[in-house]
Amino acid sequence: MKLRWPSIILSTLLLAANIHAAEAPTPHADPLQPTGQWSAFSKGNAPTPPMGWNSWNAFRTDVDESKVVGAAKTIVDSGLARKGYRYINIDDGWWLKRRQSDGRIVIRTALFPSADRGENQNTSFRPFVDRMHAMGLKAGIYTDVGRNACSQVWDLHSPNLPEGSTAEREVGLWNHLPQDIALFFEEWGFDYVKVDACGIADYGSDKPFIAENDYQPLEPLIIRGDLPNTDVAGVQKLYGDLSKTLATVNEDNDYVLSICTWGTANVRAWGKNYGNLWRTSEDIRSSWDSMLHVFDSAVTRALFAGPGTWNDPDMLYIGHGDFDENHLVEAKTHFSLWAVLAAPLMIGFDLREAPSSLLDIWGAEEVIAINQDAGGHQGVLMQDNERSQVIVKSLSHPREKAVVLFNRSDAAVEVTLLASDLGMKENKPVQLRDLWQEKSAGQFVGKKTFTLPPHDSLTFKATGERALEKGRYLSEMPGRINVAVDGLQAVSLDPVAHRTLAQKHAEKHESARKGSGYRQSYPGFGGPRANVSPYGDAITLNGQRYRHGIGALANSRLEINAQDEFTRFSAIVGVDESSLGKDGEVTFVVYGDGRELAATKPLGVSDKPITLDVDVQGVDMVELVARQTRQDPLPVVVGWADAVLE
Ligand code: GLA
Repeated sequence: MKLRWPSIILSTLLLAANIHAAEAPTPHADPLQPTGQWSAFSKGNAPTPPMGWNSWNAFRTDVDESKVVGAAKTIVDSGLARKGYRYINIDDGWWLKRRQSDGRIVIRTALFPSADRGENQNTSFRPFVDRMHAMGLKAGIYTDVGRNACSQVWDLHSPNLPEGSTAEREVGLWNHLPQDIALFFEEWGFDYVKVDACGIADYGSDKPFIAENDYQPLEPLIIRGDLPNTDVAGVQKLYGDLSKTLATVNEDNDYVLSICTWGTANVRAWGKNYGNLWRTSEDIRSSWDSMLHVFDSAVTRALFAGPGTWNDPDMLYIGHGDFDENHLVEAKTHFSLWAVLAAPLMIGFDLREAPSSLLDIWGAEEVIAINQDAGGHQGVLMQDNERSQVIVKSLSHPREKAVVLFNRSDAAVEVTLLASDLGMKENKPVQLRDLWQEKSAGQFVGKKTFTLPPHDSLTFKATGERALEKGRYLSEMPGRINVAVDGLQAVSLDPVAHRTLAQKHAEKHESARKGSGYRQSYPGFGGPRANVSPYGDAITLNGQRYRHGIGALANSRLEINAQDEFTRFSAIVGVDESSLGKDGEVTFVVYGDGRELAATKPLGVSDKPITLDVDVQGVDMVELVARQTRQDPLPVVVGWADAVLE
């Protein structure tokens, strides 16, 4: 999709004018100075996207021990555990109250009988967690970063809401962070925590339900659908404190932090600095449009994910609604897309009753294998239009790529896969393996056209000769890139993530019709991207278009985890023609372990691009800095075209 960006940028710039400045993860006088360090979150245990089961999409607050244990049993007995599904996560609904004598959380033992330790005893999830561990599984729990939880506002009629006085019903981490984290991880032995944010979003004193339900108001830090008034730095601080506390409590590093602020508060840019996964969107629903929307919220963010830190477009909805056993085409497509995105794979279905057709989808071993590839590269959009997309995921093996061809629309479409989409030679055969059918799908030279029925997709592993004689394009290694500084002067809203949903949402949801409409609320538009400019245009330097490269805004710094595996870095650098700021000038500097290796003179949009070719032998951390030397009030776009590490 082509976005005509001047109007978008101008409007979002205006909108963002009074955003609170985001706090840098490691305060540095000049954020463009190299650090020689990997500054993204490197703790916790998520080298590949976490896989498992979560109670929410199956049961909402109607969760109980037999349902959770039933899911765990199926995970083991069906062989899903052997295929990587490991985490059994209890979502909202488990708590009874916060005991006032000592602030300890009490579990609702009517739902979790094994937590009952007799009257006046401390309830404990330890027996449940031990049971999961004995089954070879891991266990996860759910909480909120505010005083109250999501169910306490969104599931008000649930029988399983926290009970008691106002203070007893404050079950979230607010003012209880070290105590609750120690309880969950040290005493109970959990391995994973999902931390929601309704407590800092929905409990403003102006809401009638606050008085009606006798809650203590908390002036929201996140204003839903209102980015300019959201306290981005405040939200970051809360998750930063949480992140530190978790690291302190979990000396063995065997934990996972799942951040759940639904794409708001600019989390798509900073989630990677504090947690192992962060939600990029609102909750998935069981509809095709919703699935497209949450997919769109993550697919442009390949450079923000990598081993240990994952974009989370939300849990799988396979088994329900548009993805139930009567819609296996849609269910398979949903799974293929999550696989190629390197998204966490969390099953959300009552597994005690799972039909084999669905178990076969969650258990598709060759599809899982691309998700779990050790390289940790998120798939990159190589073709993108309203009806179809081609997403290519680099695999650890240099001659292999995973690719998903995907029909978003309600009519059949033709999609032509190009050898160049795969970074492979156009005059040599490319072998295809169909990962659902687990058999060869033949070979092609140059390109091959497929007809995809509505909502259908094809998932291949492609093997062939690399187009590059030596090395790999940097854009083929998104998992090695950390966006240390994204160059955004103001936090801008992302129109891509809303292209499908806005209209449908307005049609379907009464609240959207009655109120002021459906507002975009996912910032981060303009962040660096693989193979396109930050706004989705082709990388274009001085009249020449480039198929490969990194597009970014000026005043950005990228960390490349080279780990002493390469000898040369090369790229063609310049100011991109799509720059709105036509007067800006930029110098491009390459650092190796903090030392300057090469720098260009200042370049403007009409200057010829410069070819950099740099010795990076022995370098662990390459850093690419595009520093603006002549200012322009409007965003200046740069290209690291054909950037290659060899
Ligand atoms: C939020 C989250 C969901 C789920 C519910 C629980 O909506 O985004 O994933 O955890 O809260 O109430």
